[in-house]
Amino acid sequence: MTVTDRPLLDPTQYFDAPSDDLSRQSISTTARGMVGSQILRIAANVRALRAQGVDVSNFTVGDFAPSEFPIPEALRDAAIEAYGAGRTNYPPSEGLASLRQAIVEHYATRLGLKYPADTVQITSGARPGLYAAYATLIDPHETVVYPVPSWNNNHYAHLVGAKAVELPTKAENGFLPTADLIEPHIKVARLIALNSPLNPAGTMIDPAEMQRICKLIVAENTRRKASGERLLYLVYDQIYWELQMGDTPHVTPVEAVPEMAAYTIFVDGISKAWAATGIRVGWLVGPPHIINRAKALLTHVGAWAPHPEQEATANVLSTPDALVEFNKTMHREVKTRLDTLYNGVQELKQAGLPIDAIAPQGAIYLSVQLNLIGRTIDNVAIQRNEQIADLLLNEAGVAVVPFQAFGLMEESGWMRFSVGAVSVADIERALPKIRALLERAE
Ligand SMILES: Cc1ncc(COP(=O)(O)O)c(C=O)c1O
Repeated sequence: MTVTDRPLLDPTQYFDAPSDDLSRQSISTTARGMVGSQILRIAANVRALRAQGVDVSNFTVGDFAPSEFPIPEALRDAAIEAYGAGRTNYPPSEGLASLRQAIVEHYATRLGLKYPADTVQITSGARPGLYAAYATLIDPHETVVYPVPSWNNNHYAHLVGAKAVELPTKAENGFLPTADLIEPHIKVARLIALNSPLNPAGTMIDPAEMQRICKLIVAENTRRKASGERLLYLVYDQIYWELQMGDTPHVTPVEAVPEMAAYTIFVDGISKAWAATGIRVGWLVGPPHIINRAKALLTHVGAWAPHPEQEATANVLSTPDALVEFNKTMHREVKTRLDTLYNGVQELKQAGLPIDAIAPQGAIYLSVQLNLIGRTIDNVAIQRNEQIADLLLNEAGVAVVPFQAFGLMEESGWMRFSVGAVSVADIERALPKIRALLERAE
């Protein structure tokens, strides 16, 4: 290797201080206005405690520990093969034809939806798809409506300069939106964003409620078509749909009310169903005039899934037999963890301790309520969810995410427990630690 003979310059000595007013004001309003992730703050606390040698049960991340949840072997092998075969150049900006076609078949055989290939846009995981859906449909100051708690809609709304209308949901409804909740905002909304199975609650929209919501949207668009107003769309994030655990079936808006095909943009991908969060393959499905614009936008962001990973995903989707065993194992492993946690919480509840949970329906999450608001521990009054999460972490070594991180403002003790990075043994070890903390509450 030739080492340069240029003098080594240290650019950092010329940087303006980040606190300097002018340099701060020189950052765009959008970038300055991005709120930091509370989940990342908690993750940093977990890392710090672990560095001190503290044993922490980590229920925070919406991710998978590869040791607990490896990706399908067929996916790994096909990706390696694609690298070996030199598939390392740009993929087409809409995604590989083989992958788009495989998704068409996947939706037809598994969801009963026969979309053509030009309705599919491949993205590098679900996130760029979400961003592109918002950016393709929404102009600054237009209204986006979404329930809370929900995942990251606040950030996407902010990125496109939308007016966000957040609809707080209720524990008794599984923290899911209802048509009644949406109805008062239907006339001003340009976009409604829904997600099922729901991050963070692990619950699923009931087919009858989905139908009521979709009927509202279709009726509103019938009105708008007569008056010439811009139409109302639904972004339906179904990234967890293959992880359905309870009795509620996964339902799509288009299945609930077929006219919704004109107004629905699906956000989807392999990140969760295949424990493949680091592989970065996702997709949008929707009306071609919207998908085409999303493609144009994404082209300049460059948010394509990598070429070998696209080819591998197409391969695996086109040989469903390779997936049957994987899906079964994945489902069983997630369900066992969620059930172990849920049953453990129920035992604590039956022992009279102030805790409750919502039975798991889908995704990798359990909603757990630590009913400590208004109580004291060691004479300290507990008033906020964040305090409960801090106590759980620092006193019990159990790391969770309060629903505030997902936009629910009420201080009612609800936390998201994610099981993607824990073993059943980890859960069994965490439960007595939670019990010991709750027993100290007065
Ligand atoms: C509801 C929901 N949608 C989308 C995503 C993002 O998925 P990806 O990693 O494929 O970008 C997540 C990740 O946690 C999620 O929970």
